[in-house]
Amino acid sequence: QIKNLEEQFEARIARDEKIEPKDWMPEKYRKTHIRQMSQHAHSEIIGMLPEGNWITRAPSLRRKVALLAKVQDEAGHGLYLYSATETLGISRDEMYEQLHSGKAKYSSIFNYPTITWADMGAIGWLVDGAAIINQVPLCNTSYGPYARAMIRVCKEESFHQRQGYEIMIKLANGTPEQKEMAQDALNRWWWPSLMMLGPTDDVSVHTAQSMKWKLKRKSNDDLRQQFIDQTVPQAELIGLTIPDPDLKWNEEKGCYDFGEINWDEFWQVVKGHGPMNKERMKARVGAWERGEWVRDAAMVHAEKKQERKQK
Ligand code: 3HC
Repeated sequence: QIKNLEEQFEARIARDEKIEPKDWMPEKYRKTHIRQMSQHAHSEIIGMLPEGNWITRAPSLRRKVALLAKVQDEAGHGLYLYSATETLGISRDEMYEQLHSGKAKYSSIFNYPTITWADMGAIGWLVDGAAIINQVPLCNTSYGPYARAMIRVCKEESFHQRQGYEIMIKLANGTPEQKEMAQDALNRWWWPSLMMLGPTDDVSVHTAQSMKWKLKRKSNDDLRQQFIDQTVPQAELIGLTIPDPDLKWNEEKGCYDFGEINWDEFWQVVKGHGPMNKERMKARVGAWERGEWVRDAAMVHAEKKQERKQK
């Protein structure tokens, strides 16, 4: 019986059909989607912290408004993705508990400090740039709610990338000190942005199965190469140097060769020992605890509203 169900499921995937919450699916398909989608949601929520650090210190009202809008978007993406993940049978509270207890992963990229205003430019340009490259294929992923969430998210990410690159253009064309700030931010964010796209395909534990189930449509290495090939010309256009002495255009392959990524650093960060992991979790758990009264008040208000409706 199950064999038959599995065969029908595989045939649906082969026909590029969307799997919906009420459809039959292999338990492993459900589990790997809960894993990836909840971690994606956690990444959006934690991703608000590095940028939140600069909202009160933005250099102009225009910059403050754009950064505020971007951080609010990230919150929305997180809530969108938590809702999509709940369709697979895990509760919001369970996901929060997994994040707050350190059981769940979130993107390595958000464990680095944002020490100058130029970091806001580098994050929008590089981190959201890499995010778009990683998320566009996900608009075509086999699980319906995830694919539909990604379509909305990708539209907003393009604005994030543009506002970041505009900050970098302004700084790179500014005073020598401003240009140095932009170069320093590029130096600190370039390699972590390459790592954000995941381990190399030969060591990636999920890629093979995720590709079979059309959860992952392009491999980590392909997406990384696409990001590099797209971003190097953008750096050159504003006179910034990519901090990789081995970066070189390969005419034959039609893409850039690049230097060795420090995977020890990557796994250290993923394991919780990055520069800012402790601060991010402290800030997140602190916000959750300090916000308890808001959640309680909202519940009481909703109950009162319900009672009034029933009178
Ligand atoms: N940070 C933290 N953990 C990572 C990671 C990263 N950058 N890359 C991989 N890992 C983890 C995986 O989660 C997996 O661990 P697990 O089994 O406990 O989940 C392990 O390392 C093995 O890696 P794999 O490559 O085999 O794992 P995946 O196939 O899941 O690929 C991924 C990793 C490419 C990040 C994939 O999960 C993915 O595409 N996720 C959706 C996009 C996403 O989550 N982006 C995160 C950034 S959010 C964002 O960009 C928001 C924007 O507004 C800035």
